[in-house]
Amino acid sequence: MNAFLYCLDPLEPDDVEELFRPEADIATQLGANVFMVNHSAVVCGDVDRALFHLPSRDSGDGDEDGTLTPLIYRGWMLTPAEYTLLNEGVHIRGYQLINPPEEYRACHWLPETIQLLNTKITPRTITIPLTFPSLPDWGQLQDQLAPFGSSPVILKDYVKSEKHYWREACFIPSAAEGDVVRCVTERFLDLRGEDLQGGLCFRQFLSLVRTGPAGMMGFPTVKEYRVFIIDGAVSAWGEYWAGAVHDDSEPPPLEHLVTWVRNITSRFFSVDVAQTDDGDWFVIEIGDGQVTGIPDTVNARSLLQTLLDRG
Ligand SMILES: Nc1ncnc2c1ncn2[C@@H]1O[C@H](COP(=O)(O)OP(=O)(O)O)[C@@H](O)[C@H]1O
Ligand SMILES: [Mg+2]
Repeated sequence: MNAFLYCLDPLEPDDVEELFRPEADIATQLGANVFMVNHSAVVCGDVDRALFHLPSRDSGDGDEDGTLTPLIYRGWMLTPAEYTLLNEGVHIRGYQLINPPEEYRACHWLPETIQLLNTKITPRTITIPLTFPSLPDWGQLQDQLAPFGSSPVILKDYVKSEKHYWREACFIPSAAEGDVVRCVTERFLDLRGEDLQGGLCFRQFLSLVRTGPAGMMGFPTVKEYRVFIIDGAVSAWGEYWAGAVHDDSEPPPLEHLVTWVRNITSRFFSVDVAQTDDGDWFVIEIGDGQVTGIPDTVNARSLLQTLLDRG
């Protein structure tokens, strides 16, 4: 792999989006080709405008032997449909995104990811498909949540939570309290609005090791790590929460982790793992590596270098 596709800055379209600029600079220093894509044009479905800056390699059939150049997208999240569109667009220009669309979706959409994981290593999850602006049938929802009894749960959609609104739109102290479930769910749907992805996921709440004080909205900082996997091997990892009290007493079980995710065929993905007060480790979230933020604790240079070396 020798080419990256970074989101451009809509205010300065000749440059990479500010947030990704330091990373794109590292990629350039490492000798990679850095191209740009207009993310909002992809979202609008205008792939030609989106890929205005990407030079065509040839007539679109790839190299003489028909191979397409692997391209690593790095930028804002895309829905699976947007990702498919982007992949079609780069294909015509002689490239292919490193992860095919079905692999992107498998890492991006929680209900699909869960199917690839052993249920013992990720919180129990009940999924309710829903599209904006529909609301769930509240009575039916309570029946669906019955397996949780009166245990606490957290709420997210197929991709994102509203963790920064922890008490009002993420954490539900008892799944059996219909009024509270409804109140938190309504607030969550209100905040997600049109960005709602796929539907609702209610997940067994785990008592995770605290590593810092609760934030403004009660959101706890916990012992959580982000691990990047490239071609089935751990390539880089670090603490997920900036500002968390550094705790290297027991690092994440990387060898086990690689076997936990062995059914995931994506070439480049991330795994967020956290430790409970009982000492057990759980997979909290998986993400396609191309749309996963690299925390400051992770060595971005070595991660990008591995991507380049893998070819
Ligand atoms: N089942 C759970 N039990 C306890 N805490 C959780 C659970 N799931 C997520 N969290 C906490 O909430 C945060 C946000 O959840 P996550 O699934 O990663 O959503 P997002 O995509 O918004 O980051 C996690 O980083 C973790 O600290
Ligand atoms: Mg997360």
